[in-house]
Order: sequence, then C-alpha cells, then structure tokens
Amino acid sequence: MVDPSAGDPAAKSAALRSVSTVRDLQAALAAWRSSGLRIGFVPTMGALHAGHLSLVGKARSRTDRVVVSIFVNPKQFGPSEDFDRYPRDLASDRARLEEAGADLLFSPPEDEMYPPGFATTVHVAGVSEGMEGTRRPGHFDGVATVVARLFGLVRPDVAVFGAKDGQQAAVIQRLTRDLGFPVDVIVAETVREADGLALSSRNAFLTPDERLRAPSLFRALLAGRLVYELGERQARMILGVVRTALDSEPAFRLDALDLVDLESMKPVEKVDRPVMLAAAVFMGKTRLIDNIRFG
Ligand code: PAF
Repeated sequence: MVDPSAGDPAAKSAALRSVSTVRDLQAALAAWRSSGLRIGFVPTMGALHAGHLSLVGKARSRTDRVVVSIFVNPKQFGPSEDFDRYPRDLASDRARLEEAGADLLFSPPEDEMYPPGFATTVHVAGVSEGMEGTRRPGHFDGVATVVARLFGLVRPDVAVFGAKDGQQAAVIQRLTRDLGFPVDVIVAETVREADGLALSSRNAFLTPDERLRAPSLFRALLAGRLVYELGERQARMILGVVRTALDSEPAFRLDALDLVDLESMKPVEKVDRPVMLAAAVFMGKTRLIDNIRFG
C-alpha cells in the first residue's frame, strides 16, 4: 500500500497503516517524531465498538497522529477466564479504525509483545489490590505490564482509556506517575447504548433476553447516585439501595459492589470526596461491569 504521507510526514495521512512488528512500528513512528508531530495512543484488545472509536476521536482531537494497538493480552486473563473465547475480528476492527481516522494500527503477535526471555512484571501496589484486583488475581499486573511495555514502545504524548474500566484507569494513572512516562493519560467518559448499557466487547455474548435486561445494571448505579444527590452520605446506605435494585433483576448474579475513593480505589464509609460506585454482575457466563463517579 502507498502511504500518502510518506514524502511529507506532517501531511495528514489518509489511509490506516497496519504493522505487526516492533521494528515496523518504530520505523513508522520515527518520521512523525522527527517532524515534531504529537502522537496519540489508544491501547485496545480489539472487538472494537463505538466506545473505542470515541477514544480514537479524543486522541485525534488532541494530537496529530493516532496509533491504536490491538493485542489480546494473555497476562491479564486468569486461567478460568475467557481468553480463548474473547472476540477477535481484525478485519472488521481495521475497517472501523479506518473510518474513525486512526493513522496506525499495531497488532503484534504474542512473541513480539513478550519476546523469549521477557521477564518483567509491573505490580502497582495499593490501587490495584482491592476490588477487581482481589477477585481477579494477577489481572492488573497483566494490564500494568502490557501498558508499560506499550508506552515504552509507542512513547505517546497522549494516551486515552475508557472510564468503564475504572480501576484499570486508576492503576494506569498511578503507574504513569510512578514510572515517569511522559504521557498525558486521559480517562474518557463511558459510551452507552440509548438504554444506558455501557458499550463492551462482552455485550456480544448476551442472549436477546439478557441484552434487554442488562441496562438494569446502570439503572441500579443511578439509583445509588440519586440517593447521594438527595443528601445521603453513608456508603452503606447508598450501597444498600444499589444492592436492592440489582437483586430485583433475576437475571443478575451479583459479583461485586464497591464504593471507593476515585484516586486510591479504597472503600469509603462516607461520600465526602470524589468516589466511584462500581458493580459487576454475571448474566449467564458473561460478566458485566459498570461504574459511575460522583461526589
Ligand atoms: O482495556 C483494555 O482493553 C485492556 O485492558 C488494555 C488497556 C488494552 C490492556 O490490555
């Protein structure tokens, strides 16, 4: 494929370029960097939906070139989790990225991300240890390790993550500060369907009946925020309202419900600072998560 920007790195590229090796990635980035172009980055695991594309849009509006990675990272899946059945469709992801105006797709095979001898694990203490960190041991080490590696390879000026994975966003913000990556991490609002369901690659696993019922997760979180807005500050009262709402949906099996400080991800007793109210439910085998922020 001819890269229309090959002669003039500053000209806006019209076509999405795809690379799968670190060598090609760095060759593609070198010309942009030497022209002083700002690089935006959206790391993903593919199965792209409008939520991901909105992250690409955010990166585009802040930078000159947007790199998207697609890598289903085995290190962040537990042995009984859905790594094998995680949806993968590179051709359709590529078409979506092209439409969204991304400039470069990096979709490495596993041995490119973790070459033989790769021995580093990044553990972000504290913020990664409660909530999903307790329920999914090793998950955030896998996320932190792959994000640190990707930041090192891409060296973006701006990286955009979704707020739906709220604890993940807090882990990445902490690791970015601690390791001194010179990247501006942006956490973008969750994109929702018209009925409130947060967009997620895992929504594809829901049966039609489950899909109809799934927005009750967001509605339960809104009920919690409403009691806060009406003056309630005690975490256990707010959590009680949300639990009752979740219990009233027979298709849900409640897996987790937390009200935590937005930065430390530690549980709060009283909402007297910015917080995240987060829940995870199973519908059949599919685990849905969502959260809202207030306070
Ligand atoms: O949110 C995701 O899709 C993944 O956890 C991430 C950040 C791309 C790391 O694999």
